[in-house]
Formats: sequence, C-alpha cells, structure tokens
Amino acid sequence: LWLAVGIRHRQPGEPAIENGFIPYLGCALQFGANPLQFLHSRQKKYGDIFTCKIAGQYIHFLCDPFSYHSVIRQGRHLDWRKFHFATSVKAFGHDSFDPRHGHTTENLHQTFLKTLQGEALPSLIETMMGHLQDVMLRSDTLNPRKDHWEVDGIFAFCYKVMFESGYLTLFGHDKCQTKQAVQKDLVLNALENFKEFDKIFPALVAGLPIHVFKSAYSARENLAKTMHAENLSNRENVSDLISMRMFLNDSLSTFNDISKARTHVALLWASQANTLPATFWSLFYMIRSPDAMKAAHKEVQKILQDSGLTVDPSDPTLNLTRDQLNNMPVLDSIIKEAMRLSSASMNVRVAKEDFLLHLDNKEAYCIRKDDVIALYPPMLHYDPEIYEDPYEYKFDRFLGGNGQEKTTFYHSGQRLRYFYMPFGSGVTKCPGRFFAVYEIKQFLTLMLSYFDMELLDPAIKVPPLDQSRAGLGILQPTYDVDFRYKLKSIH
Ligand code: HEM
Repeated sequence: LWLAVGIRHRQPGEPAIENGFIPYLGCALQFGANPLQFLHSRQKKYGDIFTCKIAGQYIHFLCDPFSYHSVIRQGRHLDWRKFHFATSVKAFGHDSFDPRHGHTTENLHQTFLKTLQGEALPSLIETMMGHLQDVMLRSDTLNPRKDHWEVDGIFAFCYKVMFESGYLTLFGHDKCQTKQAVQKDLVLNALENFKEFDKIFPALVAGLPIHVFKSAYSARENLAKTMHAENLSNRENVSDLISMRMFLNDSLSTFNDISKARTHVALLWASQANTLPATFWSLFYMIRSPDAMKAAHKEVQKILQDSGLTVDPSDPTLNLTRDQLNNMPVLDSIIKEAMRLSSASMNVRVAKEDFLLHLDNKEAYCIRKDDVIALYPPMLHYDPEIYEDPYEYKFDRFLGGNGQEKTTFYHSGQRLRYFYMPFGSGVTKCPGRFFAVYEIKQFLTLMLSYFDMELLDPAIKVPPLDQSRAGLGILQPTYDVDFRYKLKSIH
C-alpha cells in the first residue's frame, strides 16, 4: 500500500524522512506557506539533515553551514545541469541546452562567463549608466522637476527605471533612431509582458504546464516574437551576451527560430527577475534609514569630487569606472544587507548515483540516485548566531572597522566560509552577479546625485515578503511603498 501511494521508508544510514500527509504533494503546502519556519521546525526535530517529500520529489535539506562545502564542491556524485536545464525548458519552452540531449553543443556556462564577467564588464557598465540617466532625466518616463515633488511607489519606480535601462543595455535599441515613440512602446510592452509572465513563474517551475495560464503564455510568446533574429538584427549596441548567443544558436544548435527566440526571453528573465526586487529593497531600506542615507551621500559625493565630476541634470552624463564602483563599500553594504533580508534562492544538486554524503561532523548519510540535495541560504541569513538581530536592517553590517568590506562571520566560534548566498554557489553561482551589483550601485548613485527623496510616511513598516517565490531568488514585497522625489537644486 505504501508503495502504491508513493511513500518512501527510511533505510538504515539515510536521513530522517517526512512524507507529508498529501499524496504526491507531500510537505509542499507546509513548506510553501513559510519555508524558513518549516525548515527551522524540522531542523529542531531531526538535526542538520532531513528528507522531505515535496511535489513528488525527495529533497534532502542540509542545514549545517560547515557542511555546505560537501554539496557546493562539484563532487562526481552530484549533477547541477540536470535540474537547471530542465527548469529552463519547463519555464521558457526552448529545446534543451543539455549537450546530452543533442540539440546544441554550446557550453552555455562559458558563454555567460565570457560575456558577463571580466573584460565584458566595462562596456556593460558604461552602457547601463547612459541608459539610466536617459530614462531618469531625458525621456518622458519620469519628468522630474525642481519645484515639485513627484509621488510614486518605490517598487513601480524601480521597475520602470531599471527594466528599461537593463533591457536596452542587453538588447540594444532600434537602428532607426527616428522611431523613438515606437522604441518606448516596445520597452513598455516588454515590461508588461515580463510582469505577466513572471507572475506565474513559480507555478511553471513547480511543473504546471504554461498552457493553463493563457495570458502568461501569450505574454511569453509576445516577448519571444520581439526577439526573433530578424527583429534583433535591426538593433544596434546589442550586448556581447546576446550577440554571441545569437551566433552560437545559429552555428552550434539545431534550435528552430522560435526556440532560439525563447532562449533570449530566458536571458531577459534572468537579467531582470531578481535585479528589480533587489533594487526595490536597496532603495527602500536606504531611504528608510537616515544613517544609511547620510553615509551613502557622503560616499557618492566623495567619489564624484575625486573624479572631478559635476552633477548637472540638464547634461546627465555622469560616468563611473569599474574601479570607482568597486571603491564604494557603503553602497555595497547597503545592497548586501537588503539582499540578505530578501533573498530566498534554493541551491540544488541532483544525485547521479547512490552515494554517501559526508558531513563536517564526520557523520555520513546514504543518498539515493535522483534525489535532490538542497541548501536554503535564508537559514544562514536569518541565523542570530551569524547576524545579531537578524530581522533588523543594519546598513553597515557588511562594513568592517576600517570602513572596508567585512568578510568575517562566525558560527559556534568558528569562522564561516558560507554566510551570504543570494547568488547561489559553486558552478551554478549567478554569472551576472558582478553586473547586477554594479547596476544597483549605479542606480543608487544617480538617485542620490540627482534627486531629493523621502518616504511619504517615514515611520512606515517594512512590507512583508511575498513567499510565493521562495526558493527562486529575491522575494518581492507584498505591497508597494510610496515615496516622493524632486530634482536637487544645484548650488
Ligand atoms: C542564475 C541570482 C542578476 C544572469 C542565477 C541564480 C541565482 C541568481 C540565485 C541561480 C544559481 C543557482 O542555481 O545556484 C541573481 C540575483 C540577481 C541576479 C540575486 C540580482 C540581484 C542577474 C543579472 C544577470 C543574471 C543582472 C545577467 C545580466 C543569470 C544567468 C543565470 C543566473 C544567465 C543562469 C546561470 C546558469 O544556469 O548557468 N542568478 N541574479 N543574473 N543569473 Fe542571476
């Protein structure tokens, strides 16, 4: 009977197991309601490793940070490609990128490293800075004035400004400059389609077919249409990431045109879905903390002064080099602390075969082939032993005594190697993480340079995190928070 309803029994040497009460779903509903609370309660009951059945899958949760390394280091027993490639296919509908499936020989990982890191960064940074200033000050997106406060939701504001700037930075703009209005429409439509599709993303990852969600399906396909090769080839200043991917789609894959276009939609999603809420939380927490605002202002003013740059909203051409952006520890800490409190990405590996997982405390556990091993970084991010008063925002939490980045955090008196993981870990660590932090830093720098801003209600509570996306990245707030802004008067 147990076998018929798919319930597994714990074998000697295996972690404690919880099958849940609902066939197939197992513990999915309890987990989904509040993952952190669920995992804390199981950790108390079973210890640092336990197994839960979630939506038909047996997942081993590993909760001891000193044992993370045994999963993150790419051992021969663990596979990351299987899960990642399958998730992308489920959500975006392109053919598989797994070379073992025979549709492409592209090494996607290498493409990402080449086009999003190292020498690729200066041009991404410069392009983004130009677009951010165009969107904030030159286009009719905001129309800020000196003598009049504009009121907007911080979330809505960040989405408008960051989506358009990030979109143009990766996908370039139409060659025909006279079509400004058409261009604007394209970006606005893309944002609406992106939001419509993004809403159901968790359901797609959970395995529901996209056809159930008619409007999200057409939103995804509308995005894909704009990314057909004939449309992309009409664009200039396309990033290396997208132009290299176009070339490799053509030269190394057997994807058809629609599949190729959908691979670009996947990248649009990857580049925006976490960055937008991360920007929201960074700006929100910064404005809400007078000390953070003061320290950030000081840092930005110093950087601008040292580089001889003057702020002029009628000629918005500020530019900061990569070195200058690297030299802003206060903004770094403001952003890191915002992401510590809002990130909830699950790190996942699949067992290639039955094997013994060795933990730091010398215990070893039997893992079965095809089982999933998961790390859930909020367990670290909210651990009061690592971060004192973990639910509080402290803008300088990642600043050391010397005003530089703080990198030493402890648990049980031992220094931690893993204490901050919003970008994942090991081989699957987000390849866009450097660019992501630069873009948010650029955004905050420009906000501080050009605008006065304040919360409409300075005593407003922090909006709760929307847990529906737990496991997938930076969580969104359950509601928006209003602020007001106006152009700074330059003395
Ligand atoms: C993957 C986080 C911004 C490109 C990921 C993953 C996480 C993540 C958690 C999955 C890692 C794993 O599975 O272990 C974030 C956060 C961001 C951000 C928190 C912003 C604050 C960006 C940006 C880009 C980008 C701006 C590109 C311009 C990618 C790509 C992948 C990825 C291409 C897939 C990598 C692969 O499967 O090999 N990101 N990301 N991300 N991210 Fe980001």
